Amino acid sequence: MDISEIQEQIRRLKEEKDFCILVHAYQGHEIWEVADYVGDSYGLAVNATKTQRKNVIMCGVRFMAETVKTLSPEKRVFLSNPMAGCPMADQMTAEDVIRLKKEHPGYDVCAYINTTAELKTQCDVIVTSSSAVKILKNYPSDKIIFVPDPNLGGWVKDRMPEKDFVLVKGGCPTHMNMKPSDIKKVKKEHPNALLLAHPECLSEVVGMADYVGSTTGIMDYAKESDAGEFIIATEQSIVEHLQIMAPTKKFYLASIMAVCHNMKVTSLMDVLNVLKGQGGEEIIMDKALIEESRRPIDRMIELGG
Ligand code: 13P
Ligand code: SF4
Repeated sequence: MDISEIQEQIRRLKEEKDFCILVHAYQGHEIWEVADYVGDSYGLAVNATKTQRKNVIMCGVRFMAETVKTLSPEKRVFLSNPMAGCPMADQMTAEDVIRLKKEHPGYDVCAYINTTAELKTQCDVIVTSSSAVKILKNYPSDKIIFVPDPNLGGWVKDRMPEKDFVLVKGGCPTHMNMKPSDIKKVKKEHPNALLLAHPECLSEVVGMADYVGSTTGIMDYAKESDAGEFIIATEQSIVEHLQIMAPTKKFYLASIMAVCHNMKVTSLMDVLNVLKGQGGEEIIMDKALIEESRRPIDRMIELGG
C-alpha cells in the first residue's frame, strides 16, 4: 500500500466507525492530512468537547489523550501509539505537588497541561502555552506555584510582575536542547530571518525571539507576517508544515536537536490499526480520577474563553 491508499482507508473507516481524528501540530504531514482537527494543546482540548463522534483517536502524546477522555468520558478515546509519552509530564507526580503545597501555604497550584491526570487532581487551574498569560492574568490569586515547566513559568512570570510565582526544576528536553549558541549560529547565516520561539525554550532563547507563542501561534504568525524568512525554535516538524503551507517563504530550523521522539513515534499505520481494532491503546480512567482532574481543566476553559 502507498501513503495515499492508507489515507483513503483511514478516511473511509473513520466515517464507517464514527471516529474523530485529533492531531497535534508536531505530527507528520501525512497524519495532518487525515485529521478532523489539527492544533496546539489548547485547541485540541476545546475541540475534543465539540465533536459529535462516539470515538476519538489522539495522534499526539498520552497527556493529550487523557485530557480528551477527561473532557468527554462518554467517548471511547484511543492513543494511536501507546509508547507516545511526554518526558516533561513524567517529571512530576501528584505527591510532588502535595509536598509543594505544604511548603508554600496560601499558594494556588497552576499546572501546564503537559502533566498526568493524577497530578491535575492536586491543582487549581491548568494552562497551555497559548492560554497561560490570559488565564493567569484573570486568575484571582496572586500567589502561584507553577509546575512543571520553569521556562514557560518564567516567561509567564515576566509578563505579570504583580504576581508571586514559585517555579520548579525541569522542562521540555526537546526545547531545552536548543542552545543560545545554536540560535546565534543560524541567525548569523540568515541575518534577515525573524526568530519565532516556543515559550518552552530556555529564557535566553525566548529573550532573543521576535515572536513567542504556541505551535499554532508560531504558524499563524509566520503565515500572516510580511517577512519572508523565519528561524523556527520549536519541534522540527513545524518547519516542514510551514514550508508546505507557505511555499514562497523560507523557514530554518533553530537546531538539529529540536526533535521530540515521542511525537515522532506515531505512524499512519498506527492510525489505521486503531480503526481496524488492531492497535493503539484505549484510555481507561476511573470516575473519581476523571472528576478530580476535570475541575482545573474546566477552570482553564472558563478563564481562557
Ligand atoms: P502547544 O502545541 O500547546 O504549543 O504545546 C507544545 C508541546 O510541546 C506539546 O507537547
Ligand atoms: Fe513533551 Fe516536549 Fe515532546 Fe511536547 S515537545 S511532548 S513537551 S517532550
